[in-house]
Amino acid sequence: MTGVPAPPGPQVAPSILAADFGNLLAQVEAVRAAGARMVHVDVMDGHFVPPLSMGPNVCEALRHLGLHLEVHLMVERPERTQIAAFAAAGADTISVHAEATPNVHRALQFVRDAGCLAGLAVNPATPIEVFAEVEIDVALVMTVNPGWGGQAFIPSALDKVRRLRSLVGDDVAIEVDGGVDARTARACAEAGATRFVAGTAVFGADDPAVAFAEIAAAVRGAPV
Ligand code: DX5
Ligand code: ZN
Repeated sequence: MTGVPAPPGPQVAPSILAADFGNLLAQVEAVRAAGARMVHVDVMDGHFVPPLSMGPNVCEALRHLGLHLEVHLMVERPERTQIAAFAAAGADTISVHAEATPNVHRALQFVRDAGCLAGLAVNPATPIEVFAEVEIDVALVMTVNPGWGGQAFIPSALDKVRRLRSLVGDDVAIEVDGGVDARTARACAEAGATRFVAGTAVFGADDPAVAFAEIAAAVRGAPV
């Protein structure tokens, strides 16, 4: 853990998957200066999803920045080694996928035992009922199929988010991830989401700091 708590209120979490890795620290510092309090780290294992992305060393590289590090494990059987590895590397929240292990409850327990906040992520075709069976801090609704940045937001996810709030109660952050820009983030906020992962819309923009600020304003009710 970095020990930076999850900030209260709606949060936009820039996904570094879309960042320029040759310039990673500067890009993260730019969105931090624009108000980002957390950063989203997408971990892909080449099995649960086809691509490989990054490992715990990336968290190590970012842990001194004073940001809440949110790790999204798109990894099969994360309870075997990766939860412990990312917790040791500085992760504050770790989200595992409901589809990635038969032992979801145990994986979430491992996350808590490692001192991190626990997130559960679901793919677009996975029903939300699984969220009622576990204790979590973050309910992550994939609004694209996991594995790649830059995909189009799946509109039916809005109804999923709407149905989720009564299931998880008020203390759980509802996070949307995939195809999130100012317009879709606003729609998700209206549906009840409180955390908004944005990769391409932030780091693919000419000015990531400006793009971050626009999305942050949109989820707080500014016109889009
Ligand atoms: C997709 C990842 C997302 C991704 C979002 O598998 O979980 O976090 O970075 O990227 P954009 O915002 O480009 O859809
Ligand atoms: Zn993600």
